Amino acid sequence: MSQSIKKAVLPVAGLGTRFLPATKAIPKEMLTVVDRPTIQYIVEEAVTSGVKQVILVTAAGKSAIENHFDYSYELESYLEAKGKYDLLEEVRRVTNLIEDIVSVRQKKPLGLGHAIYVTRHVVGREPFAVLLGDDLVDAEPPCLKQMLEVFERFKGPVIAVQRVPKEDVSRYGIVAGEKVGDGIIRVREMKEKPAPDEIDSDLAIIGRYILIPEIFDYLAKTEPGVGGEIQLTDALSALKDDYPVYAYEFKGTRYDAGDKFGFMQAVITFALKHPQLGEKVKNYLKEKLKELE
Ligand code: G1P
Repeated sequence: MSQSIKKAVLPVAGLGTRFLPATKAIPKEMLTVVDRPTIQYIVEEAVTSGVKQVILVTAAGKSAIENHFDYSYELESYLEAKGKYDLLEEVRRVTNLIEDIVSVRQKKPLGLGHAIYVTRHVVGREPFAVLLGDDLVDAEPPCLKQMLEVFERFKGPVIAVQRVPKEDVSRYGIVAGEKVGDGIIRVREMKEKPAPDEIDSDLAIIGRYILIPEIFDYLAKTEPGVGGEIQLTDALSALKDDYPVYAYEFKGTRYDAGDKFGFMQAVITFALKHPQLGEKVKNYLKEKLKELE
């Protein structure tokens, strides 16, 4: 397992407006896909990829996320006293998932670039990963782990990408460049949420990045861009003129868990894979399909 990246930044300060009213009082990262909040899938991906410290970029109303990964004395004592050992084990597994978890506040919603920038003192001067909670990636090995191999080989920042239909280009950061390996592109151009004719590419950035600490110097100079927000894509675009940046077409399926339909797709897929529920869900779906015919 790679040990080259020890820290992962998880921006979780967003308001989750695409999921209202569900997210009025609950952080969107705590919405459940089968039996785990989406943020747990993300932390599990980071941990399986060798990450030792998770840095959450939070805002008001997000404490449920911190509590989820913390020790709950009350709950654990209760489960123990009641002899509910299976549940106790499951709860402890989450408590022990990541030892070192740090929260940094993003005081104003100034964009993804800004969210990353506020972690600069905690990250320090070492390479680090960024994982966005809206992007659930079903992949084996996990997406971040695949990216680490590219990082180790090319020794430069790596951005996860996938091809999207032309009409969806304006919803993503888009990269263009030259192929330098299997699924690996050296980035020549990148634009945040471009109009379809602004960039000749369908390679969309998915929320996984391996970054070098120099990015903080570029973020410090990045002016607000699309949506009036400080965009990570803009800072990376400036960085790539001085340091080679790579895009990697990971192997796996990505679900947009911040979107109602994407979330449903994730629930169905992960439910079908669930060791205890999979068979039941499959039979239920078959019945439902018959009803629809
Ligand atoms: C962010 C990034 C964008 C990327 C997307 C992936 O946008 O700015 O470049 O394509 O995540 O999910 P957001 O979806 O937060 O607007």
